[in-house]
Amino acid sequence: MVGLKEKYKDYFKVGAAVNIYTVDTHKELLIKHFNSITCENETKFVNIQPEENNYEYDQTDKILSFAKKNNIAMRGHTMVWHNQTPDWVFKDATRDILLERMKNHIYNVGKKYKNDFYCWDVVNEAIEDKKDLFYRKSPWLEIIGEDFMDYAFNYAREVLPDTDLYYNDYNESEYPKRDKIYKAIKDMLDRGVPVDGVGLQCHWNICSPSMDDFKQAMEQYAKLGIKIQVTEMDLSVFDFKDETRLDKPGIDLLKKQAAIYKEGFKILREYKDIVDTVTLWGVADDATWLDDFPVKNRKNWPLLFDENHEPKEALYAIMDF
Ligand code: G3I
Repeated sequence: MVGLKEKYKDYFKVGAAVNIYTVDTHKELLIKHFNSITCENETKFVNIQPEENNYEYDQTDKILSFAKKNNIAMRGHTMVWHNQTPDWVFKDATRDILLERMKNHIYNVGKKYKNDFYCWDVVNEAIEDKKDLFYRKSPWLEIIGEDFMDYAFNYAREVLPDTDLYYNDYNESEYPKRDKIYKAIKDMLDRGVPVDGVGLQCHWNICSPSMDDFKQAMEQYAKLGIKIQVTEMDLSVFDFKDETRLDKPGIDLLKKQAAIYKEGFKILREYKDIVDTVTLWGVADDATWLDDFPVKNRKNWPLLFDENHEPKEALYAIMDF
């Protein structure tokens, strides 16, 4: 079987999230099928700068050396986020102090991987899911104010003139959240803030989003006139509120999952001129964050390869065009 990256070479890069363990356990699949990787946790604020001015790059460097050796590009995830950010960052922070801490972090990680990462998720998940609020309430918003994203992107551009800078979020296809994501980016672009791309996480499940909604969302984001990446795609076999546990997924369920992947990739191919990379949030079903979310310790099968690293229906479905 030809590799995924080969099959998609005229469309977009195909990526996967890895961590310090899966970069070994999924090595063969990564080398054969993927030409982009993202660190699942290793490049987040808490991992990189757990204490002020104490930068820890060892794990990322190990993953980077695997990527370089195998000619795989690397994306950065993520600089400014409400989650996985250590408490010291917000402790006793005024607006000026927090901006200084933000700037130091962005400058340091930016500079360190300047020649290695082709893009960064500069800001992650700043838009609120609930209908009546625009921005997510977070210490970044509350301490700095609504212009915190402008600062983040401007600092990132200062240190990374040639790297693509992304705003990244989930529930990207849902209305009205997609309108809010669109508006936040559009307004930044109108203010001259350097946003090069929108990252659509695409944590989907067997019931939602509908592919009509995804298509409409793609159409809307395309109007921004910047690049699009799918950054964290996976497809839970359970509806979000379903707490069922299964010993293994039935063939019908896997076929349904494959059909959604097929349609999703078909839509993405239609936008190949602006879609830069499509990244899966993992490689094979033996290692997925969905085994612990939203139901703790419940097995899930959201990816393109099974627990034995064999191709699933979903893989064949997206290769069949
Ligand atoms: O490192 C500690 C370890 O020391 C400790 O013993 C263990 C006990 O639970 O926890 C370990 O940390 C875990 C970490 O992953 C590393 O494995 C955290 O508990 C766990 O919460 C964390 O989950 C990550 C999650 O982000 C946190 O928000 C997932 O692996 C990661 O896949 C997930 O990724 C996010 C994206 O960054 C942003 N979009 C959503 C996506 C899925 O939630």
